[in-house]
Amino acid sequence: MAEVIQSKLVWAIYLLHLLLLISIHGSTSDSISSEGVRVFCAVNSGSDCGLPSPYTKILIKGGTVVNAHRKEVADVYIEDGVILSVRPNIRIPDENIKIIDATRKYVMPGGIDPHTHLDMEFMGTATIDDFFTGHAAALAGGTTMNIDFVIPINGNLTAGFEAYKHKASKAAMDYGFHVAITKWDEDVSKDMEVMVRDHGINSFKFFMAYKGALMVNDGLLLEGLKKCKSLGALTMVHAENGDAVVEGQNRMIDLGITGPEGHALSRPPVLEAEATARAIRLAAFVNTPLYVVHVMSIDAMEEIAKAKKAGQRVVGEPVVSGLVLDDSWLWHPDFITASKYVMSPPIRELGHGQALQAALSTGTLQLVGTDHCTFNSTQKAFGLHDFRKIPNGVNGLEERMHVLWDAMVETGKINIMDYVRITSTECARIFNIYPKKGAILEGSDADIIILNPNASFEVSATSHHSRSDTNVYEGRTGKGKVEVTISRGRVVWENDVLNVMPGSGKYIKMPPFSYLFDGIDKSDAAYLSSLRAPVKRANAAS
Ligand code: URP
Ligand code: ZN
Ligand code: ZN
Repeated sequence: MAEVIQSKLVWAIYLLHLLLLISIHGSTSDSISSEGVRVFCAVNSGSDCGLPSPYTKILIKGGTVVNAHRKEVADVYIEDGVILSVRPNIRIPDENIKIIDATRKYVMPGGIDPHTHLDMEFMGTATIDDFFTGHAAALAGGTTMNIDFVIPINGNLTAGFEAYKHKASKAAMDYGFHVAITKWDEDVSKDMEVMVRDHGINSFKFFMAYKGALMVNDGLLLEGLKKCKSLGALTMVHAENGDAVVEGQNRMIDLGITGPEGHALSRPPVLEAEATARAIRLAAFVNTPLYVVHVMSIDAMEEIAKAKKAGQRVVGEPVVSGLVLDDSWLWHPDFITASKYVMSPPIRELGHGQALQAALSTGTLQLVGTDHCTFNSTQKAFGLHDFRKIPNGVNGLEERMHVLWDAMVETGKINIMDYVRITSTECARIFNIYPKKGAILEGSDADIIILNPNASFEVSATSHHSRSDTNVYEGRTGKGKVEVTISRGRVVWENDVLNVMPGSGKYIKMPPFSYLFDGIDKSDAAYLSSLRAPVKRANAAS
């Protein structure tokens, strides 16, 4: 009897979703959402394309379950979005279960991308992927959560946070936020407390570049480091010397270099290394952990390596573009081709990517993001006659899992458990949401991918799910394909069909004081007790 009621309940929920979807299709005011669903149906042409899966129970059979700490052949049973059991030979006598055969395939935690910019206003325009198309692309590529950056409005954190909450109302997978700090006053300082206490924010980002827009000076960074430390929030930096970048840009323009190659020439690795070293030293002075986003050069990576060797808590995040591409594209004679590779810090000369991969394999760099910040070729053409006006950013949300597997696991540079660590688990640990995310364990959220190591992938702007008309990985093929993506217990990607629903993604609050803060109080105490007592001097006047 209970089973009959439960089965009816499942179908009632399915019908409710159906009604919701029909109302989304029928809505003319939400053209983006409806357009997104239509596009995917047209591309993938599944007969029930766009309908949410009616199944709330899923049994994945016979795959190799990979966590960052171990791999084992086991079944995975999911109910209502949560993993209930991970062990061999699970049998559930219930006909309303979706059974997925994962024999000879890897069952892994969905990817978590720590660095994206969806629907971001930047350089006079806005990124072309919003929280729906960005999430759709992510899910098709095996990523089930992203952490985006709230950009304050006129420096105001609360206004920025509210705006991003609205942008994210069309989210199709789980997401979290970092908050950028672009000015400093008492209100900002108080708002940082509110963000951590009430809104589940545990990281703040400081741009050391983009002078006249997002850039902060050393005084502000120092205040930010102190405040972050007091809140148990992670300080993140975009590390480039913004003053010197402007000098480099002017130098190129004076030399008559106005094309995309001028972007790379104007902001060489030394400017990235300088800012990375500066941020590291200021974080050491304050004694608080530091996270360096998009590490693009050997020079910056070596600063991180040196600090880590000295015992400092510095997290280095390379991005896929920096790991597998090189800057020769910026010299391509076709502007549309060259300009799509413009991002900051720039993609570096051949050799940097391989060195960053090596650093990733040894743990000097810890996790991989994308910095997904897409602009289409019309937007990139704003800088046709002046590289300084080309909106900075590349794609990667849909490609990260595939490209990394092919570049690092297929080549034997890292093992499969390391792959899970750098694409998912480490991000969950750093941002304090492990093991709810980043693991296939009993009680974890059912964000799962099934990867077939014997299938292959191919990247093209004609078949990707981003709104952009270009792709920096255009034509790239490789081994290893994400055949199934499960997001919070729903199959959203299977047989190359994407079934995603705007509004289905949930905001994930991230608590402060991650493991990176463990023991900071003790080292502070040791520092204080190491200070020698003030010298008692006789008054010179007496
Ligand atoms: O070029 C980039 N990286 N665009 C996004 C903004 C940033 O610096 O992260
Ligand atoms: Zn940046
Ligand atoms: Zn970024």
